[in-house]
Amino acid sequence: MNAVVLHESPLGRQESVAPSKLQVRVQAVSYLADDINQFEFVSVDSDTLPAFTPGSHIDVHLPEGSIRQYSLCNACTERHRYVIAVLRDPLGRGGSMAMHDVLRAGQIVTVSAPRNHFALSSAATKHLFIAGGIGITPIMSMIAEVQRRGESFHLHYCARTPQRTAFTRELCGLVASGLASIHYDNGDPSKGLDLKATLRRQSEGTHLYYCGPAGLMDAIEAASTHWPRDAIHCERFSASGTPVRTAGDDPEQPFEVELARSKMRFIVHPGETIVDALKLQGVEVDTSCCEGYCGTCMTRYLSGDPLHRDSVLDEDDREEFIMICCSRAKSGALVLDL
Ligand code: FES
Repeated sequence: MNAVVLHESPLGRQESVAPSKLQVRVQAVSYLADDINQFEFVSVDSDTLPAFTPGSHIDVHLPEGSIRQYSLCNACTERHRYVIAVLRDPLGRGGSMAMHDVLRAGQIVTVSAPRNHFALSSAATKHLFIAGGIGITPIMSMIAEVQRRGESFHLHYCARTPQRTAFTRELCGLVASGLASIHYDNGDPSKGLDLKATLRRQSEGTHLYYCGPAGLMDAIEAASTHWPRDAIHCERFSASGTPVRTAGDDPEQPFEVELARSKMRFIVHPGETIVDALKLQGVEVDTSCCEGYCGTCMTRYLSGDPLHRDSVLDEDDREEFIMICCSRAKSGALVLDL
C-alpha cells in the first residue's frame, strides 16, 4: 500500500473489536452489467439487519473459506437488506469468482456486521464523488443519503464502456439534471476524466470522496495533494505500490505478545506476523487481505507500543486498535484484548 486511507470516522466507537457475524440468505442475484452481478442478502430470522451508515462494507465469508469485503450500495434507510455488487475478476484472488460462480439465491452465508472506514463528512457543504468502475458501490449508498438530506453534490463516474458500467439506469436522472457525469475511456485513461482540471480548485467546504482501481486512486491522490487532508476521503480494496512501512521499522525486531484474557505469552519473530504467531499457538483469527487495508483483523490492544503498518486506522484509532496481520510492536510487550 502506498497511500493512507483518509476518512472522517473510520470505526464508529460503538463497534466491537471483532465485528459480529450474522447468517443471511441470498435473496436474489441479478445482472447489473457485463461481469457485474448484484447480490441481495436478508436476515434468516428477523425482518431487520444491523443498521449501517453510507460507505460501510461487510465481510462475506465465502463457502470455500475465504473472507472478502464488499461495500454496501443500497440506501442506509433500508433495514431489511444488504445489497452489494461484485465485479468478476479472473485475475483477482478468487473471491469474486466464487461470488459469481458459487453463490446462488437461497443459499445461507455468514457476513459481518457493517463497518465504515469511508464515512460521509458532516462538515462538508458540498460532496464531490469520483468513482472508477466497481468503486461506484459505496458511493451509490452515499449519494442516496446526501440526496435524502438535500445536500449539494456531484458525481464523476469513470468507466471503460457502457456495457461494463453498473447502475447507469439508476444514475441517468442525475446525469440529466447535471448532478452526475459519466466518463467512458474505452481503456485509454487519457480519454477519461481530466483529474487535474477537476481537482485544480477546492471550493471551501467541498469534500472529495473517491474509490476505484489502484491506477485511478493513485492519479486522484497525486492531483489532490493541495487539498486539505481532512477534506479528502478514500477507500482502497486492493493493495498497490509498496507495503506501508515507517522509518525505523527495519530490521524487524522480535517482540512479545500477551493475550489479556488467557494470559498466554509468546514471541513474534522477525519475518513473522502476529497472526502467524497466534496460529502457532492454536489461536485462529479472521483475516482477509493480510496487507492492512481491509480491517478484518482489527484488534484492540491494552498496552504496548505498536508499530502500525496498516492503511485504514487514523491516529485516534491507532491509540486503541492494531491490525495484527501486518503491524508489530516497536519494543517491549504488546498486550492484546484477546
Ligand atoms: S486482514 Fe486485512 S487488515 Fe488485516
